[in-house]
Amino acid sequence: MERVRTALVGCGKVGRIHAQALASLAESDFVAVCDVELERASALATQYDVAAFDDVGLMLALSNVEALCVATPHPLHAGPALLAAEAGAHVLIEKPLAASLPDCDAMLQAARQHQIKLGVISQRRWYEPVRRMKAAIDAGKIGRPVLGAFTMYSWREPSYYQSDPWRGRWDTEGGGVLVNQSPHMLDLLEWLMDDEVAQVSGYWANLNHPSVEVEDSAVAILRFRNGGLGSIVSSLAQKPGIYTKVHIHGSNGASVGVETDRGATFIAGMSSISEPPLNDLWTIPGEEGCLTRFQAEDRARFAGVDAVNYYHALQIQDFLRAILEDRPPLVTGDDGRRVVALFQAIYQSNREGRSIKLLEE
Ligand SMILES: NC(=O)c1ccc[n+]([C@@H]2O[C@H](COP(=O)([O-])OP(=O)(O)OC[C@H]3O[C@@H](n4cnc5c(N)ncnc54)[C@H](O)[C@@H]3O)[C@@H](O)[C@H]2O)c1
Repeated sequence: MERVRTALVGCGKVGRIHAQALASLAESDFVAVCDVELERASALATQYDVAAFDDVGLMLALSNVEALCVATPHPLHAGPALLAAEAGAHVLIEKPLAASLPDCDAMLQAARQHQIKLGVISQRRWYEPVRRMKAAIDAGKIGRPVLGAFTMYSWREPSYYQSDPWRGRWDTEGGGVLVNQSPHMLDLLEWLMDDEVAQVSGYWANLNHPSVEVEDSAVAILRFRNGGLGSIVSSLAQKPGIYTKVHIHGSNGASVGVETDRGATFIAGMSSISEPPLNDLWTIPGEEGCLTRFQAEDRARFAGVDAVNYYHALQIQDFLRAILEDRPPLVTGDDGRRVVALFQAIYQSNREGRSIKLLEE
């Protein structure tokens, strides 16, 4: 089988999940890892018998890398991505695509210029209940998606913010719950609504984490390009965490929904996923009785997989196959930019006390 020469930059918590996938996927010829802290790179390099670097430019030049996974802190995604694009390597970036829109635009421009594929991680798109919702929506079973709600009541201990020096600060993290935990569900909301957000009003606050400067909670109301409406409640201020859900309601009155996370959302490298993602709402005419069966199937499947690694591996595999088949990956750089535009619009709306237009109508 044809394989892609792969490498990783950022050998921290989520980097280890990428390394495991790159070492095990049949589409990957895993060749090198890089971290500014060389001992982190060396530890992973020893584990997987690949080369270790503390300079991404050098790694790209010496290891003939064809695809690079980027798992550095958010404001440091663009630097390695631009170097990779210039070297002709495809780039798969951890969420969010970047902390700022100028970083997103620089990466998208470089991807076009150097004709490389740019993807962004959103592994919850591979959750079976999410895929089931998408299939039902694409089949027209709820009519047109017209109302979407993303609700997260989660929790982070103060020790979480202390675990790495870049966390909890505007300059080194780029924001709080909107930038770090929400991108997964902002992506799901736009993907499942099958539409782009046109206008946003939002607020954010730090409700329950006085030791950090960024927001731990945000709310927003949305209008989509095709006239649909949406709402966001995203918070890390509930102890214990309660749930994370995305619900989509259709023009024929039917609704589908998923609880992506029970309790607090998991922390890569620090906690596991202990409860399965499940559909929690399904009122499609003729399928009202299916919810119990869907939940039983998904509980059974969940028991057989290591969920923290499994869904990342599925997305990384899709990205490598996109390279080999010369097609777009399921989650593109443009999808990643839409998420960054949305959370930046919520910040701007709060700052300027007005609603923000994302699209000219
Ligand atoms: N998809 C998910 O579920 C998920 C989960 C956790 C984290 N993430 C994302 O992954 C990224 C990293 O998060 P983390 O929790 O692994 O952080 P981390 O701090 O554990 O790891 C980041 C690593 O990057 C290294 N690094 C920093 N700057 C670098 C540079 N310029 N060149 C090379 N290496 C550099 C650091 O030394 C560190 O080892 C973030 O974007 C985060 O949002 C995604």
